[in-house]
Amino acid sequence: MGSAVWLFLLVVSIHIYIVAAETDPDDNSSLRAVMSEWKNVPSNWGRGDPCDDKWVGIGCTGSRVTSINLPNMKLEGGLVGDIFFLSELKELDLSYNKGLRGILPPAVQNLKKLENLILVGCGFSGQIPDTIGSLPQLRILSLNSNAFSGNIPPSIGNLSTLNWLDMADNQLEGEIPVSNGSTTPGLDWLIHTKHFHFGLNKLSGPIPRKLFSSDMTLIHVLFENNMLSGPLPTTLGLVKTLEVVRFDNNSLEGDLPLNLNNLTSVQDLYLSNNKLTGPLPNLTGMSRLNTLYLSNNSFDSSDVPSWFPTLLSLTTLMMERTQLKGQIPASFFNLLQLQTVVLKQNELDGSFDIGPSFSNQLQIINLQGNSITSFNNTGGPISFDIVLVDNPVCQETGAEANDYCSLPQPDSSSVYTTPPMNCVPNSCGTGQISSPRCICAYPYTGTLQFRGLYFSNLRNETPYESLEQNLTRFFRFPELLVDTVSLSNPRMDQHQYLLLDLYLFPYGQDRFNRSGISKIASALSSQDYKPPEQYFGPYVFTGAAYEYFSDGPAHSNKSSAGIAIGAAVGASVLFILLVIAGIYAYRQRKRADRATKESNPFAHWDPKKSSGSIPQLKGARCFSFEELKKYTKNFSEANDIGSGGYGKVYRGTLPTGELVAIKRAQQGSMQGGLEFKTEIELLSRVHHKNVVSLLGFCFERGEQMLVYEYIPNGSLSDSLSGKSGIRLDWPRRLKVALGAAKGVAYLHELANPPIIHRDIKSTNILLDERLNAKVADFGLSKPMGDSEKGHVSTQVKGTMGYLDPEYYMTQQLTEKSDVYSFGVLMLEIITARRPIERGKYIVREMRMSMDKMKSLYNLQQILDPAIGFGTSSKGLERFVELAMRCVEESGTDRPTMGEVVKEIENIMQMDGMNPNAESASSSATYEDATKGADLHPYDNDSFAYSGAFPHSAAKIEPH
Ligand SMILES: *[C@@H]1O[C@H](CO)[C@@H](O)[C@H](O)[C@H]1NC(C)=O
Ligand SMILES: *[C@@H]1O[C@H](CO)[C@@H](O)[C@H](O)[C@H]1NC(C)=O
Ligand SMILES: *[C@@H]1O[C@H](CO)[C@@H](O)[C@H](O)[C@H]1NC(C)=O
Ligand SMILES: *[C@@H]1O[C@H](CO)[C@@H](O)[C@H](O)[C@H]1NC(C)=O
Repeated sequence: MGSAVWLFLLVVSIHIYIVAAETDPDDNSSLRAVMSEWKNVPSNWGRGDPCDDKWVGIGCTGSRVTSINLPNMKLEGGLVGDIFFLSELKELDLSYNKGLRGILPPAVQNLKKLENLILVGCGFSGQIPDTIGSLPQLRILSLNSNAFSGNIPPSIGNLSTLNWLDMADNQLEGEIPVSNGSTTPGLDWLIHTKHFHFGLNKLSGPIPRKLFSSDMTLIHVLFENNMLSGPLPTTLGLVKTLEVVRFDNNSLEGDLPLNLNNLTSVQDLYLSNNKLTGPLPNLTGMSRLNTLYLSNNSFDSSDVPSWFPTLLSLTTLMMERTQLKGQIPASFFNLLQLQTVVLKQNELDGSFDIGPSFSNQLQIINLQGNSITSFNNTGGPISFDIVLVDNPVCQETGAEANDYCSLPQPDSSSVYTTPPMNCVPNSCGTGQISSPRCICAYPYTGTLQFRGLYFSNLRNETPYESLEQNLTRFFRFPELLVDTVSLSNPRMDQHQYLLLDLYLFPYGQDRFNRSGISKIASALSSQDYKPPEQYFGPYVFTGAAYEYFSDGPAHSNKSSAGIAIGAAVGASVLFILLVIAGIYAYRQRKRADRATKESNPFAHWDPKKSSGSIPQLKGARCFSFEELKKYTKNFSEANDIGSGGYGKVYRGTLPTGELVAIKRAQQGSMQGGLEFKTEIELLSRVHHKNVVSLLGFCFERGEQMLVYEYIPNGSLSDSLSGKSGIRLDWPRRLKVALGAAKGVAYLHELANPPIIHRDIKSTNILLDERLNAKVADFGLSKPMGDSEKGHVSTQVKGTMGYLDPEYYMTQQLTEKSDVYSFGVLMLEIITARRPIERGKYIVREMRMSMDKMKSLYNLQQILDPAIGFGTSSKGLERFVELAMRCVEESGTDRPTMGEVVKEIENIMQMDGMNPNAESASSSATYEDATKGADLHPYDNDSFAYSGAFPHSAAKIEPH
């Protein structure tokens, strides 16, 4: 911590030293000329000296102006004359200023030192000047989302240092330029460029064979949504570095090149909506392929390819109208990551069989409009959609009663929204929004658009959680710009781009200043920020105009932006209407809230007067539906704190102020009344400090709800991933492991009847305010009757990655299956990795890397560096050994939970901890940490992450 601050100050003071020089007179007068051209320049422009007095968005090196970063400033005007005299300029980023219009003038070539030219989402139009090819240092050229027209200038081929080329979402037309001899340049010369982003234009003509070669290092080739024709050239198969390839929505024809199969790094391949013909390509070699779109082409009629089940990383297969016939092998649905399979309108026939085990990630298998005659389900209950509408199997009499014979209801439940972090959302004033920490503030908002994705189940929270955490870390360190990040409303648009609303909440204040916005927006426009690569491909961010700058109104100068006035008037009328509509909706909601409060049966329940009559919820109590509805504010989205296959979990506040967690089963996952009763009876008998206790239930109006104590610090998974902000050092991890082990041991050995949990995993271990672990979620639990001593035969259930292979093979459930899952959990505790990440299974990874002859058993690469091991390596080694015994193949070789508890206690003693210390010591350290850190629990990490903001040193402006 101390050293982090010291480093921060050092960086800042070096910077002060560099910039404390008066601006070069030519640069000074150029900037002042630019200032008079633009409306809404930052309020401190015009005051004093640009470099010396740190005009917002201006970066200097010595006396020279080297960067202009003014994204999202509501600038209006054009790019005229004087800006091109700033001859030392390296970065020019004016993104998200819709009011910047007119052409990109040929004089741009005067900026010979320019490295980044970033004009994303402005109002520029006209031809891109040919002189753009005369910027020898250019690395990033982003002209996307403007209204540029005309051809792609061939001179771009001269930009030999270009890394990023983005011209997507314009009106560009004509053919893709390639070189001719050694004098006429073309895009084929760009052998160091990683990104060709040309989607959403009007490019036409054939894709030149010459465009691609084995010298190229492209990773993203995006030409989707154009008017390209002719075949896909075989030269594409030479670019071995490719990861995302999009040519969907063009008019491509002819056969696909055979060597496509050589592109073994490709993760996303989109070729749908073309006129491709010939045989289906053989994609056996594409072992990393994740998303495959081939729909709506004219391929030769062919049998289901034998390579389907070999695509081990596949999540998404879209092959609508591709003339497929025959049967899909059941082994295909075994692919671990599979989420979405759409094979509509083909000629598949015979019996459809998904086999006895299928991916637990499946969301939909849509086989509408084929010739399937029967459906063979040997795999037990199915929690995803299967669509066999318009197949013979659904045309038999009585068949319409089957779920798979009707189109799935569009799922109206809300998709992901970042939940609040153990707090009750505030109702905030107009324009303010309650942050995930329940603080009212004016967030900076915008839309992330992903042009490639490595998942398709938009309801799976993991990718969003990972993105939130990654964004928070990036924007919090080292500059403390952003406090929290919220994501919402994931949706696919008609171009197969994922859109996601992003809210960034300011740190330590309720609004951003201009300098903060310019830093955040330019990190996103310049792609400095990189999202988690296991889920997200290339992205574009579009910032919304920010209305709440803390540094006052823009610098007022005589408006020279006459062109913009008409548009601005129109826009402000619209804005006023929206504000009025917003206020009206807000008032209505307030009124409705008041009405519900008045009809609350507990409104006159004064806890002080009637202290005795408030229910002391010790045993399970029956709640009415109305009560629970009140406690959760009508099951409001704001109180939605989690969801799963069974339904949703809401936070509720009892009239006493006590918080509870309410698990509400959704239609379809309800049990029969008797089973529900049995479950409540079972749960109400379970009382242990390491097991979440049941407070009550509701069984009314066709609802089944369970009311649990509320555990404030979220799940172990949240803490391991960093999401909850609780740092788990080694002693804390041991304490959590011990608590969880005691909870499970209690269920096995002391509960009457004994209970097998069946779903031990890190999301089911909750942490209370003193970091005591509590085992939760008995949704799958099985009591052991006397008649079945030893084991129970059941449908195999559980969570992929934690599932005991022996149980899976034999279907015989014993306590040792929980021990296996617990072993996986222990591995998760020391590695902070999910059991299956990118197809890698943690148990196998450990077995392969482990070498007991080496220190830390040679596991340094796998262990979570946040543990800070070293001194405690002996305990860690024993912990690893214990975990590996828990995941032995055969149940009889695994320890019992009681033995696991003992061994963890021994490890704690060995590492100098007292396993029986009633949390006092560790809770004190935890509280101290939170107090000192004052709501920024990642602070301890700031040293480690000080490199996360690559250009920060150059951009820091001490306030
Ligand atoms: C690429 O594909 C072609 C055609 O399928 C094949 O002949 C060639 O050997 C492959 N090259 C490599 C390097 O794998
Ligand atoms: C597809 O290619 C692989 C090699 O990459 C080969 O082993 C296999 O036989 C091919 N399959 C077909 C159907 O051509
Ligand atoms: C259903 O699937 C099982 C296992 O996959 C197989 O043994 C059985 O023959 C299939 N039945 C029909 C009617 O296809
Ligand atoms: C975000 O994720 C990317 C890709 O996985 C990674 O390289 C980067 O370090 C992460 N950033 C932070 C701040 O954690």
